[in-house]
Amino acid sequence: MGLDIGSSSLKVVQLRRQGGTAVLETYGELALGPYAGGEAGQATNLPADKIAENLRDLLREANVTTIDVGVSIPFSRSLLTLVELPRAKTPEEQKTIVELEARKYIPVPVSEVQLDWFIIPDPISEGKELSPKVKVLIVAVHNDELKLLQNVVQGASLESSFYEIEIFSTIRSVVDEIVKPVMVLDIGASATKVYVVEHGVVAFSHNIPRGGQDVTRNISSSQGFSIAKAETLKKEHGFSTQLAPPYARESIESVFSHIFEESKRVFTQYEVGARTPISAIVLTGGGGVTKELATYAKGFFAADIHVADPFARTQAPAFMRPVLAEIGPEFAVAVGLALRKLEDLG
Ligand SMILES: Nc1ncnc2c1ncn2[C@@H]1O[C@H](COP(=O)(O)OP(=O)(O)OP(=O)(O)O)[C@@H](O)[C@H]1O
Ligand SMILES: [Mg+2]
Repeated sequence: MGLDIGSSSLKVVQLRRQGGTAVLETYGELALGPYAGGEAGQATNLPADKIAENLRDLLREANVTTIDVGVSIPFSRSLLTLVELPRAKTPEEQKTIVELEARKYIPVPVSEVQLDWFIIPDPISEGKELSPKVKVLIVAVHNDELKLLQNVVQGASLESSFYEIEIFSTIRSVVDEIVKPVMVLDIGASATKVYVVEHGVVAFSHNIPRGGQDVTRNISSSQGFSIAKAETLKKEHGFSTQLAPPYARESIESVFSHIFEESKRVFTQYEVGARTPISAIVLTGGGGVTKELATYAKGFFAADIHVADPFARTQAPAFMRPVLAEIGPEFAVAVGLALRKLEDLG
């Protein structure tokens, strides 16, 4: 099972391996808002016991039968930095260099975080000497955050085999292109995670503090509708022009234009710095379900735009395909976690 602990809802996906394929057994989502005295679709900041209570309800509703789980770590609670360091002669030496250097980039004592790092593979250049520098992706997560996640897992009587920063899970479930850079926009409730993936590695990442809840609040405050009514209107209309009443369209547009303008800056900055064009953009997260969002996004970027379809990597009954394709973006993190779980089983 993959478990995505988002700020607005929990999502679970249970997969089973059959031959070489991943079979979808069940999936489900449960909003956290009502557990915090608020509305569905709004971001929350709940303690572990409240999240565990929601999780127990979700596991029951979704008929989850396994207790073996991989869990997401929010990008907003982690630190990812790409740095260039001297190349060492041995892996042991490299480890020492990375651990010493990491201190410079982590704003808290190293003892307070879990540290991990990856060496970015050099582009294949036959006959050329290796450069004296290596690019290293340094990843740190605060111990407090891991403790919270562990308490949630324990509170729902599950057994976790790994924790993974959500963007790595999403890459596994939605990014096809390995070689050319792809930009992913995970539009969540409270924030949009923007990152560029090249050679399967996160080459750049950025957080935009805007998401689906801002759209709903805009509709609500501009029209004096309740949050619940605004949320329903948003999901019903999105950018589908023939249906959208003008008030909804304006409220939706002001949030997405901000998100896309800022993403465009990231896009251009990356292309100029890396001297490589970004080949495609993938829209994911609950905001990615917004009707006609890809059409609206086309006005901002000179690249192919796709809406994520993570369930396409799983086997499911044909009659479920349309609904899985529609809700897919919300489950990208959970599917990616479950896929890793299957890979780890070998
Ligand atoms: N059909 C839809 N149309 C428009 N927006 C939608 C639709 N379905 C869900 N959303 C919005 O997506 C948001 C939730 O997205 P998601 O589940 O990816 O967030 P999260 O993972 O809980 O949050 P975060 O990633 O920021 O922690 C909510 O604001 C919700 O209103
Ligand atoms: Mg999310």
